[in-house]
Amino acid sequence: MAPIDPHSFTDSAHPLTTHISLSFYFDFSSSAIHASALLSLQTTLSGPLHLDARSISVVSVLDPETLSSIPFSLSDPDPIKGQKLTISLSDKSSILIIYSTTVSSSALQWLKPSQTFNKTFPFVYTQCQSIHARSVFPCQDTPAARICYTARLNIPRELSAVMSARHVDRRQPISGEAASLPCGDDLWCAEGRVVEEFSMEQPIPPYLFAFAVGELGFRDVGPRTRVYAEAAGVVLDAAAAEFSGTEDMIRQGEKLFGPYEWERFDLLVLPPSFPYGGMENPRMVFLTPTVIKGDASGAQVVAHELAHSWTGNLITNTTNEHFWLNEGFTTYAERRIVEAVQGEDMATLNIGIGWRGLNEEMERFKDNMEFTKLKTNQEGVDPDDVYSQVPYEKGFQFLWRIEREIGRPAFDEFLKKYIATFKFKSIDTDAFLQFLKANVPGIETKIDLELWTEGYGIPPDAYEPVSNLYTKIVSLASEFKTGRMPREDEVADWHGQEWELYLENLPKSIEASQILALNARYRLSESKDYEVKVSFLQLAISSRCRDYYGEVENTLKEVGRMKYLRPLYTALVQGAEKDEERIFAKRVFAETRECYHPIAQGVVESIFSKHM
Ligand code: BES
Ligand code: ZN
Repeated sequence: MAPIDPHSFTDSAHPLTTHISLSFYFDFSSSAIHASALLSLQTTLSGPLHLDARSISVVSVLDPETLSSIPFSLSDPDPIKGQKLTISLSDKSSILIIYSTTVSSSALQWLKPSQTFNKTFPFVYTQCQSIHARSVFPCQDTPAARICYTARLNIPRELSAVMSARHVDRRQPISGEAASLPCGDDLWCAEGRVVEEFSMEQPIPPYLFAFAVGELGFRDVGPRTRVYAEAAGVVLDAAAAEFSGTEDMIRQGEKLFGPYEWERFDLLVLPPSFPYGGMENPRMVFLTPTVIKGDASGAQVVAHELAHSWTGNLITNTTNEHFWLNEGFTTYAERRIVEAVQGEDMATLNIGIGWRGLNEEMERFKDNMEFTKLKTNQEGVDPDDVYSQVPYEKGFQFLWRIEREIGRPAFDEFLKKYIATFKFKSIDTDAFLQFLKANVPGIETKIDLELWTEGYGIPPDAYEPVSNLYTKIVSLASEFKTGRMPREDEVADWHGQEWELYLENLPKSIEASQILALNARYRLSESKDYEVKVSFLQLAISSRCRDYYGEVENTLKEVGRMKYLRPLYTALVQGAEKDEERIFAKRVFAETRECYHPIAQGVVESIFSKHM
């Protein structure tokens, strides 16, 4: 009897859930889902079963055959894990849980019509990684467990639903099919409601559960790819153009890593409050609209989420302590796809931006070195609070180091074998290292594997990339210190990523007059590319150039992607003599909080509590 994951109440002595059957009634007027979840266990159990739950109100637990009540209790909430739902079973292998979500269910963002593009209908979507699936349905919310599921979503007929699963049907509600639901049969079958049915037959870790409901439209952009977004011609056209190269990337991925196992690779462009750049929900990747820039650069984020189809979704980390197995491998795989479709210079530029990011994280975690490691101890730690580039970039560096040691052809063979061996399994760092040592004999005498996986900081054999473009940009940035700004001919063919690398290599604080001069020439504060704009605004804040605070406020109110919120709010509130900035940050957050996804709200609150 022991927990198998520091972020879950799942117990090693209990059978895991293999299948969940969900019925959801969406009540947009109260921002709640009235639901039932039928869980099927691997084996029968007599005694207590522990499930994870967060901000849901459980009405009853029933025996699905007899509909008689089964005793249950909910613990007091743990600030990180939520509540332990204990169900007392006697020789049962399935249970029916009747419950409703609440307004604080952390995976769900409910948008009012005014917060959508068309402003006519509401919208709701999930973000379950890392530990928020438990706020949508009670479950063993650990990536060590894999589940298949079916779902019936009862929604207003003006809307449609998508899921990270196979779409089976859109039909009329059937009387009696949801009799035990908290909403009752009358509401379920009311005029104006439809049911969308989905089925997920490939077993997934719970964090990959996902849906969105709203006024959705789509465009087909490839034989297995459709782009979904709010049903507005301009949004759909822009998305279709941006992602037209997707099939090409899937083919490159298959060449490198083996067959694409998920059948479809659809994309969903969410409203601007989506808290991440992309989320690798299988069969239906979720994307921020900020990746649509009109220059096909969104392809990098798609390459990343596509790469997860092999690394992360096929092979999954057993717990978040081994998150680098998901993100480090995926960052490596993403760059191989980018190299194949956009060329080596682009891939190297991305490696360079990542190298810069990794070095900055060392500064961020200088008092908390645990999170400079690949394998981390996350007992008592909220994964959302320690999210960083380390698992991505140090993980990438580790794999790149192995590639340099054994050569690309051998490493490619190794990767294919690794994926074929562990597909549809959850593994930890030790399992990877054992497989590595077994398949690359003697590797441990060439590379200090323990230093890489268990050591702090950046190992000495990590590698800053070299390429003409990368080196040129870094040296231009260092010339800025001596007062030289790049000439127009030097930046003529720069896109967002070149500017991002340039800005990130400038000193953290420069004269306000230099910031103004740079912007007078290149108008970075008005860039349509948020990566560029946010890097510039961050530099302006840390250089105490207050001329751009209006633009900072607009940005914080336009987008909810945490990659932008984190650095801007942090730059405003950290450090001495920041009274004015702190008041400003608090005001903007108070005015905008409701527009952010609950996970983003939590992250901004934790930045504030650390620095104020
Ligand atoms: N799986 C992550 C997003 C994530 C990580 C959500 C941890 C919740 C907890 C996704 O694949 C990702 O890494 N997204 C990046 C994209 C980038 C690396 C191209 C992002 O959102 O910035
Ligand atoms: Zn990722």
